Amino acid sequence: MTTLNTQFDRLRQSATVAMSDRILALKASGQPILGLQVGDPDFRTPAPVVEAASRAMEAGLTHYGPSSGFPDLRQAIAAKLLRDEGVAYDPGAEILVTHGGIHAYHTALQAILNPGDEVLIPDPSWATHANMVVMLRGRVIRVPAPPENGFIPPLEAWAQALTPKTRALVLNYPSNPTGAYPTREYLQALQAFAQAHDLWVVSDEVYGSLYYGDRPTSAGAVDGAKDRTLLVNSLSKTYAMTGWRVGFLAAPARVIANALKASQNSITCVAPFVQKAAAFALTDPAVQRATAEMRSAYGRRRELVLRIAREEGSARVLVTPPQGAFYFFLDCRPLGRSSVEICERILEEAQVGLVPGSAFGHQGEGFVRMTIAASDEDVEAGFRRILQWAEGEHR
Ligand SMILES: Cc1ncc(COP(=O)(O)O)c(C=O)c1O
Repeated sequence: MTTLNTQFDRLRQSATVAMSDRILALKASGQPILGLQVGDPDFRTPAPVVEAASRAMEAGLTHYGPSSGFPDLRQAIAAKLLRDEGVAYDPGAEILVTHGGIHAYHTALQAILNPGDEVLIPDPSWATHANMVVMLRGRVIRVPAPPENGFIPPLEAWAQALTPKTRALVLNYPSNPTGAYPTREYLQALQAFAQAHDLWVVSDEVYGSLYYGDRPTSAGAVDGAKDRTLLVNSLSKTYAMTGWRVGFLAAPARVIANALKASQNSITCVAPFVQKAAAFALTDPAVQRATAEMRSAYGRRRELVLRIAREEGSARVLVTPPQGAFYFFLDCRPLGRSSVEICERILEEAQVGLVPGSAFGHQGEGFVRMTIAASDEDVEAGFRRILQWAEGEHR
């Protein structure tokens, strides 16, 4: 038989997608499933953004557009990065508009990796971080980020994973699935480590605007970091624009030059009317107010879960308040079962859709990810069902 690309045999199937498929099938058969598995805001994209896209389409922006992105969009991205992260990027040379955050990550890795290069990736982390490295014929080295350390890798764990082939390390803060993010001091120390070993730092900050305490520090914002940091971000989560597929890579000019070639030769450009809508979303004051309302809804749901945990909690489901993003990473290790089994049983017996923690790596075993990017009613009812199931399980 004619051979295929064997790299694909080494990919983990996205557990989130697998779970969603099962949930859809169960829903179709009439079961009252509460889906708390996906990382997609339950809010509609703010109406003025939709109108901006519509205006752009009517104005004829339905043909090819610039591969690097319209100048006004790159300018809006640079202004956002300066305002929010305190880092100045040159919109002409240091920013590429991409097809969502996932494509920013893809082009970033394409720009820097050669076959066989090793990439350090915390465990747990979003499955695509590792899968993309595998597709590009790099080698994934997992760096344990254990629950006992707040799901942040101890600094010495990075050093232990280092070899002469290490080319880059990947960060994702606030983290999917844990919501954790480190201190500025930690990032500064990690920057010193990256500098000492001449590593690229690829920082996925798609949840960077979703936090519940102090604003997380961007990896590129610590002293000396900008020249080796590849910043991945998108409008998907913050603006409830997951379906629009628009994001960006901010990185040193020579990285962007490679990433632009990768993008030109794969997607040509992000749809021009989507780019115009994105520029509008980043700059319009009413849209910023709409995103602030979404953020406060996530904060309210987070409090709701914490209150239920305090008042009716189960010793079998341990709850740590997430610092950011819109997930709870529930510690179900007291149940003594695998994450996959717990999720399957909760789906079948309590009709709640979740994602097994082991889908994010070994350190996630015994945990399950529950999203709060769902209505207050669903979050409340779903979490209660989980607690009741866990108690019933051990009666
Ligand atoms: C950590 C992380 N990075 C990137 C993405 C993808 O973002 P986008 O929809 O902008 O491609 C996701 C989506 O779930 C994510 O969780």
